[in-house]
Amino acid sequence: MLANQFTEVFREEHRQMRDMLLGLMDAIEANDIEAVRQGVGEMAAHAGPHFHYEEQVLYPALAEIYGADYVERLGAEHDAALEAVQELAELAEAEEITPEQAGYGLELIRRLLPHVSDRDGLAVIVEVLPEETVQEIVRGREKSRRSGKTLLDLARGKKKRRPVARQARGKASKAVAAAKSKVVPRKARAKAKPARRKP
Ligand SMILES: [Fe+2]
Repeated sequence: MLANQFTEVFREEHRQMRDMLLGLMDAIEANDIEAVRQGVGEMAAHAGPHFHYEEQVLYPALAEIYGADYVERLGAEHDAALEAVQELAELAEAEEITPEQAGYGLELIRRLLPHVSDRDGLAVIVEVLPEETVQEIVRGREKSRRSGKTLLDLARGKKKRRPVARQARGKASKAVAAAKSKVVPRKARAKAKPARRKP
């Protein structure tokens, strides 16, 4: 099942990001500026394509079930994470790390860690999306990998792009219109109904 394959890779990407962030914490605590510099570069390169496809294809697809407000929060989290990565990269350019900078560096990493744990569960919703939507997400993932964008590239490009929430709203409306015109698997509809109910 394609969704299972998606989940496996999604989790592995989060695992790798977790290990890189924990490694960065160790490097900061050891005051090893070379390791910090290298670690920030590796983490930004690894997580760039991951963040890119989450914003471009995964989050908009999830808006069909979660609604645009939740997806807007996910986008805001990404923006905050990108700012933290930019600050980490600036910190890594220093010749040495003062105790204050080390403390701040650890705080920045702690802002990034919840993404790898708390957002890993989004895959459970991907399981109930129509097969063709999962295919689109997987294709988007491959495209993002080929782009080779790092988190720092994404942070720099952020101002030029439309906020993810607006993209999500647009795509959510299209998804609802598309759902009306075609058969959606029953399990996807059953899961989607409570999320769409008005309070
Ligand atoms: Fe993620």
